[in-house]
Amino acid sequence: MNAQRLDRLPNLWRAASAAGLDEAGLLLYRSNLLGSDLRITNFGGGNTSAKITEIDPLTGEKVSVLWVKGSGGDIGSMKRDGFATLYMDKLESLKGHYSGLADEDRMVGLFEHCTFNLNPRATSIDTALHGFVPHAHVDHVHADAVIALAAAKDAERLTGEVYGKEIGFLPWQRPGFDLGLKLGAMATAHPEYVGVVLGGHGLFTWAETAQDCYETTLRIIQKAADWLAVNERQSVFGGAKILALDAAARKKLAQELMPAIRGKISAGSSPKIGHFTDAPAVLDFVCSHDMATLAPLGTSCPDHFLRTKIRPLVLDFDSAKPDVTRLIAGLDAAIAAYRADYAAYYEACRHPNSPAMRDANPVIFLVPGMGMISFARDKATARIAAEFYINAINVMRGASGVSAYVGLPRQEAFDIEYWLLEEAKLQRMPKPKPLTGQAALITGGAGGIGAAVASRLLADGACVLLADIDEAALATAQAALSTRFGKDQVRAIPLDVTSETSVIDSFAMAAQEFGGIDIVVSNAGIASAATVADTSLALWQNNMDILATGYFLVARQAFRLLQLQGMGGSMVFVASKNGLAASAGASAYCTAKAAEIHLARCLALEGAAFGIRVNTVNPDAVLRGSKIWQGEWRTQRARSNHVSEDDLEEVYRQRSLLKRSVLPEDVAEAVAFLAGPLAEKSTGNILNVDAGNAQAFTR
Ligand SMILES: NC(=O)c1ccc[n+]([C@@H]2O[C@H](COP(=O)([O-])OP(=O)(O)OC[C@H]3O[C@@H](n4cnc5c(N)ncnc54)[C@H](O)[C@@H]3O)[C@@H](O)[C@H]2O)c1
Ligand SMILES: [Zn+2]
Repeated sequence: MNAQRLDRLPNLWRAASAAGLDEAGLLLYRSNLLGSDLRITNFGGGNTSAKITEIDPLTGEKVSVLWVKGSGGDIGSMKRDGFATLYMDKLESLKGHYSGLADEDRMVGLFEHCTFNLNPRATSIDTALHGFVPHAHVDHVHADAVIALAAAKDAERLTGEVYGKEIGFLPWQRPGFDLGLKLGAMATAHPEYVGVVLGGHGLFTWAETAQDCYETTLRIIQKAADWLAVNERQSVFGGAKILALDAAARKKLAQELMPAIRGKISAGSSPKIGHFTDAPAVLDFVCSHDMATLAPLGTSCPDHFLRTKIRPLVLDFDSAKPDVTRLIAGLDAAIAAYRADYAAYYEACRHPNSPAMRDANPVIFLVPGMGMISFARDKATARIAAEFYINAINVMRGASGVSAYVGLPRQEAFDIEYWLLEEAKLQRMPKPKPLTGQAALITGGAGGIGAAVASRLLADGACVLLADIDEAALATAQAALSTRFGKDQVRAIPLDVTSETSVIDSFAMAAQEFGGIDIVVSNAGIASAATVADTSLALWQNNMDILATGYFLVARQAFRLLQLQGMGGSMVFVASKNGLAASAGASAYCTAKAAEIHLARCLALEGAAFGIRVNTVNPDAVLRGSKIWQGEWRTQRARSNHVSEDDLEEVYRQRSLLKRSVLPEDVAEAVAFLAGPLAEKSTGNILNVDAGNAQAFTR
C-alpha cells in the first residue's frame, strides 16, 4: 500500500468538549487536537493562532489581540501559557518600520513591544505569518503529505493540480516578517483561498471559527494524501535494491554498532544517547535503489533538518554479505569525512556574525538493509530526530513518487540552522543536568535501594535500564519511574545475574535502547543467616552465585561494552557493612559481600587504563523499602535481637554511632556521587552509608 495514503484523518472535534470554552480555550483545544496526530504535524512543528477581542488592562477598552503559539513547545501538549499575545494594531504598525530583508532580525525584537498583558512568552519567527493573514483563525502545520507536494521540483503546478483555486502557493522563503507580508497580501488578494502551500516547507490554512479552521486543515491534508496515493508511481524509491536482514539480525547489528558509533561521536563533546528504528518506512528507504541519490539531497522542511542535520550519514554495509567487523572498522573514516563535509558547509555558507560551528557529527545514521540509528543529547531528542527523519523519508517518497524531490539549497539551510534567532532559541533551552547523555544499568533495580538509585540518577538526567529477577516488581518500578521522569528515559529487562546469557542480554538491551552504557550499579542481592554448622551447601552456593559470581558476570560484560565504546565509565558495587565487619551467624553472606568488595578493587586496577572507575558503597540496616527486610531475614534478625519485628528499626538506629536510620535514598546519594562527575578522580574507594559503625571503619 502507498505509504502516503492516510487512513482518513479522524475529526476529533467534540461539541461537548468545546462547549463553554472561551476563544483562547477553543484555540488551545484545536491546537492540542491537531498536534495529537503526527500525520498532521511533526513534534514541535507548526503553530496556531486566533485574533481575539480582549479588554485592555490599562484603558478598559476592547482591543484585538493575536494569540499565537510562542517560540518552542509543541501544539499537541502546549497549555494556555504557550501562546504569545500581541496587540494587533501595534503588530500592524510594524509594517511602517520594515525596510527590507536585512531588517528581518530587528523586526523580531520589535514584536516584544507589541506584547499584550505583560505576557512573558517569547514570540516565534512565524508570528508575522499569522498576524498579517486577515482571517480570525490560522493554522500552520508540517503535514508530510503536503510537504511532499511542496518539496517536488514542480511544487506550484502540483499544488494547482491538487487544490484548484482554493489553495495558493508561495515559493520557498525563510519564514519571517517578509514572508508574513507576502502571505498576508496573497490572502487579502484571494478571498477564495482557504490556505497557501509554502514551497519546501508546509501548509497555512485559515477560517473564521476555530472548528472551521480545524476541519479545513484536516480536509486539505487528506486531499494531498489521497491525490498522492492515486498518482504515485508503482516502484517506490526506484524499487528494492537489497534485501533487509531479518528482524533478529537487525537488532543484533544495532546492539554491536551503536556503542562503537557512540564512542566516536561523543569523544571531545558531551556523551550522546542513541535510538534505533527499523520501522517499515525506514526499511523501505534503506533497502531501496534511490536512497543513494536521495539521502545526500538533504531534507526539506526546516523543522526536519534542524533536528536531523541537513544530511544523514549512509554507512557502507552489504546486507547480503554482512561483515560487522568491517563496518565498525570503517566508522572512523566515514565519520571523519562527514565532519569534514559539515565543516566545509559551515565555512562556505557562514556570515561574519554567524554563531560558532556546532557539533559536526552526524545525527542520523542509515545502514542499508538494517535501519536507522540516531544520536542526540538525550533519549527524547534522539527519538524525535528519528521521527523527523521518517517525516523526511515520507516527504521524499511522496515527492519522488509523483515528480522529482528537491532539498533546500545549501545556503538557505545554513541561514536557518545558524540564524541568530535559532541560536537564541538554543540558548533559552535548559542547561543539561550532570548526567544528561549518560546511560545507567542497575541490577536489582526493582528493589528498595535499586529503585532509589534509579530515581536519583534519573533526576540527574541519566537514562536508566532497570534489571531485576523479580518481573512483577520490575514492572511496578518501571511504571512508577516512567510516570515521574517520562517514558523515554526508563527501560526495564528481566535479569538473573547468575546467568551468563541473561547478563549479556541486559547489556545488549542497553546498547540497543540507549546506544551504550556509562554507569553500572551492581546492586542485586539477597540476605541469609545461619550458623556455619547450619549453612547448607546450597545456601552457601546461592550467596556466592548471586553476590560474588553475579557481580563478576555483570562487571565482565560491563567492561566489554565500556571498552568497545572507549569513553571510560563508572561502576558502583552495592556491597555491605558485612563485607568489612565480620558478623556471627551469616558467614555465607558476609564472605560473599567481602568478595564483592575485593573484586571492585581488582577491577579498579584493571579499569584505570580505560578510564573505568570502580567504587563500592556499603549500606547497613536499610529496613524501609527493602524486600530483604520483609522476609525471613527480618524475622531472624528480630529473634536474635530479642525484639519484635516492629522494633527492629529502632534497634539498628540505636546501634549506629550517629543514632540515625539509614534510608534507601541515603544509599542512592552515595551511589550517585561515586557514579557521577563529582567523583571523577575516585576509584577503588569504599563509602560506608551506615550511620556510623566502628567495626566497618576502613583502614
Ligand atoms: N537493606 C539493607 O539493609 C542492606 C544492607 C547492606 C547491603 N545491602 C545490599 O543492597 C543491595 C540491595 O538490597 P535492598 O535492600 O534494596 O534489597 P531488595 O530485596 O529490596 O532489592 C534487591 C533486588 O535484587 C533482586 N535480585 C535478587 N536476586 C537477583 C538475581 N539473581 N538477579 C537479579 N536480581 C536479583 C531482587 O529481586 C530485588 O529486587 C543488595 O546487594 C543488598 O545485599 C542491603
Ligand atoms: Zn513551519
